[in-house]
Amino acid sequence: MLVLGIESTCDETGCAVVRDGKEILSNVVASQEDLHRAYGGVVPELACRRHVDVCLPVLNQALEEAGVSIEEIDLIAVAHGPGLIGALLIGLNFAKSLSLTLKKPFVGVNHVEAHLYATMMHHEVKLPSLGVVISGGHTALVKVNGIGSYQLIGQTQDDAIGEAFDKVAKLLNLPYPGGPNIEKLAKLGNPHRFPFKAGKIKKRPFDFSFSGLKTAVLYLVKGQNGKSQTPLIVHEEERADVAASFQHTACSDLVEKIGSALKEYQCHSVIFGGGVSQNLYLRNLAEEKIGSPIYWPAKGLCLDNGAMIGGLGYHYYLQKGSHTMDLEAQTRLQFNEDTQSSFLATAGSFDRL
Ligand code: KG4
Ligand code: ZN
Repeated sequence: MLVLGIESTCDETGCAVVRDGKEILSNVVASQEDLHRAYGGVVPELACRRHVDVCLPVLNQALEEAGVSIEEIDLIAVAHGPGLIGALLIGLNFAKSLSLTLKKPFVGVNHVEAHLYATMMHHEVKLPSLGVVISGGHTALVKVNGIGSYQLIGQTQDDAIGEAFDKVAKLLNLPYPGGPNIEKLAKLGNPHRFPFKAGKIKKRPFDFSFSGLKTAVLYLVKGQNGKSQTPLIVHEEERADVAASFQHTACSDLVEKIGSALKEYQCHSVIFGGGVSQNLYLRNLAEEKIGSPIYWPAKGLCLDNGAMIGGLGYHYYLQKGSHTMDLEAQTRLQFNEDTQSSFLATAGSFDRL
């Protein structure tokens, strides 16, 4: 089965052609980094306009690279949440239009779940596994019993870990997206110079809180009354120590909670997914501290992309069939949320649309 995967939840427009949920024939991503850099973060209006401009060229390139025609596509899969509402609507309506005109079934998939599936595409994972989604919009620990069978263990109560990297980068006058730039600067610094602390949530040992950590960095580098525009009060060369200490604190908090969750929930392995799993400091720390097998996303599958959507969409379709046209974009969407009512009864029953 050839699946077209469409991703447009935030600031990347992705189209990919995936065979039988695993074999990636093409995976084209148009990043909007250049567009948002001047603002130090994603501007939703601009993101939407760019999605509209590039969705057709990205689709055409994905088909060309895969060497297939649009008529050969069997299923259209799209991320219908969570994400920015405008951005989601563009991808979802693009998918619905293709589905109607080509008379092909379509499914909406959960973007966060797809980040974990991205890693499962290339690994035979020992189940149950502990899924760790770490991206610009999400931080979650999930027990993965199988594809489509999850138990949410913990999540962030405020900023996502990637968001914290991006905000701290901005405070240190580093360009957007901040994560890779923090990692680069941190290589020159001492991770133990500033004893920052990540947040702990009472009675919720597997939840995260990074906003206090971000504020501690703000006070250190701009003073107690500092605002984002206030000039830095730390020396230029101390910025690297701040970046390294922040990165160490955020990554250690994550790795510690993964260690405890593995025991508590009796998971045999760890699956990482999402943009922050590109971070090599985190990868080294996790490999050093976690005794269980760890699976990382392949290159090109850490950040947002259409291949993970097409891959997961294949399984959704086999399990639940096609979605109907009334499927809505959802800015918030939990793991295992019941969208069953929007599914047609059986796979392949597209004729009933
Ligand atoms: O998964 P993703 O593309 O988007 C969301 O679904 O949110 O992740 C983007 C996030 C950004 O916050 C970015 O700064 C972060 O991933 N990121 C990193 C690194 N590369 C990307 N964070 C830390 N270290 C990196 N090397
Ligand atoms: Zn993502």
